[in-house]
Amino acid sequence: MNSVLAVEDLTVTVRDKTLVQDVSFTVDPGERVGLIGESGSGKSLTALSVMGLLPEDVHAAGSVRLAGVDHELLGADERRMSRVRGRHLAMVFQEPMTALNPTMRVGDQVAEAMLIHDTVPGRRAARAAAVELLGRVQLPDVLRAYPHQLSGGQRQRVVLALALANDPALLICDEPTTALDVTVQAMVLDLIVRGVTDRSSALLFITHDLAVVATVCQRVLVMYGGRIVESGPVNEVFTSPRHRYTQGLIAASDLESADRRLPTIPGNVPAAGQFPDGCVFRTRCAHATDICATAPPWSGTASRGFACHHPAPALEPADA
Ligand SMILES: Nc1ncnc2c1ncn2[C@@H]1O[C@H](COP(=O)(O)OP(=O)(O)O)[C@@H](O)[C@H]1O
Ligand code: SF4
Ligand SMILES: [Mg+2]
Repeated sequence: MNSVLAVEDLTVTVRDKTLVQDVSFTVDPGERVGLIGESGSGKSLTALSVMGLLPEDVHAAGSVRLAGVDHELLGADERRMSRVRGRHLAMVFQEPMTALNPTMRVGDQVAEAMLIHDTVPGRRAARAAAVELLGRVQLPDVLRAYPHQLSGGQRQRVVLALALANDPALLICDEPTTALDVTVQAMVLDLIVRGVTDRSSALLFITHDLAVVATVCQRVLVMYGGRIVESGPVNEVFTSPRHRYTQGLIAASDLESADRRLPTIPGNVPAAGQFPDGCVFRTRCAHATDICATAPPWSGTASRGFACHHPAPALEPADA
């Protein structure tokens, strides 16, 4: 199957520091893929590289290709990227205000998103489509509102409507509900999943919350120290993690039982550019030996695998 997104050997640097290294992955049409890892692992930089939105002093090398776009995205100029963003590729950030124009009515912003990319025949059709889109995210009465008149959860739903306005092939969400009240998180997550499923859009979903990945995603990529250390179907990775970092993340999450004290991964995530060579996790890993000073090779396939010299034993699925 041809992927919607193909990232190959993505490396992101700032001056002499390497922030993301040799990251390769694909997302299939309609597939929902999670990207997890502690804060500072390189998740947002990976997403921003795909979007062409890295800060000026940060550089990306490698390759990013998107189905339906006949050019390489990395290094494409702003004129070309502005045709891709909001059309083939859209993103929802943690903070909705960054994506909204504070001086424009919400309905006009959604209509404008379609007019810019010529996906509707005219202004009247754009208005009608905006009404419909905002209805789908359960905001029927906000057309004439300005962003500051809405709650955080309502704003994030407007951003979602904007992101989905042109039926993008891929939606990227970076911690989209982290800044919201717990009570509205579940609703926004549900609307995201429904929005991409209705359009057969693929989803790349970034979060540090494993329980959210378990409900939203089919496959997961585990990132640490700017590298993907493990990937696979969510149920396999979460029930039988092989990389010692993934194992630690899952043990420290509340996925399993809520009534015991959770073990934490020892130590802290090193600062940018301060990860050890060889296995990036070896300064925190209880299983590290001398060989871990050399980079562990990838075991398995592109869709299910890990890079660890001393992996956790594979467990049989619970019902086998
Ligand atoms: N513009 C920048 N200049 C220097 N370092 C940066 C910049 N942006 C991010 N970093 C560093 O790169 C690392 C990865 O960042 P990020 O992708 O935001 O991680 P995550 O999203 O997984 O929390 C962090 O250590 C962060 O401090
Ligand atoms: S390669 Fe070594 S240090 Fe890295 S996670 Fe595996 S056992 Fe730990
Ligand atoms: Mg981030």
